[in-house]
Amino acid sequence: MAKITFLPEGRVIEVDAGTTILVGATRQGIAITHDCTEGICGTDIARIVAGAGNLSEKTEAEDLTLETMDAGPDDRLCCMAKVMGDVTVELQEDEG
Ligand code: FES
Repeated sequence: MAKITFLPEGRVIEVDAGTTILVGATRQGIAITHDCTEGICGTDIARIVAGAGNLSEKTEAEDLTLETMDAGPDDRLCCMAKVMGDVTVELQEDEG
């Protein structure tokens, strides 16, 4: 199991290792805006505040999408990043 802490709310969930941030969050009632779930649309971008090394490597699609979005070095796409250990994620505050 791995823990994901979501900022700014500070909610903590536990997921099986290998689960993506998006799937883990969605299963436990945390809404993350998303669309393609394939690392292409970039709507589910989030900043990794801690534990970046506990996430799966970026796929080519994710890397390209982040580059196109001019994302920062700590940004990941929640649909692509698989959690292997504890991680802290700062979600975008774009929900109504
Ligand atoms: S949902 Fe489209 S990049 Fe993650």
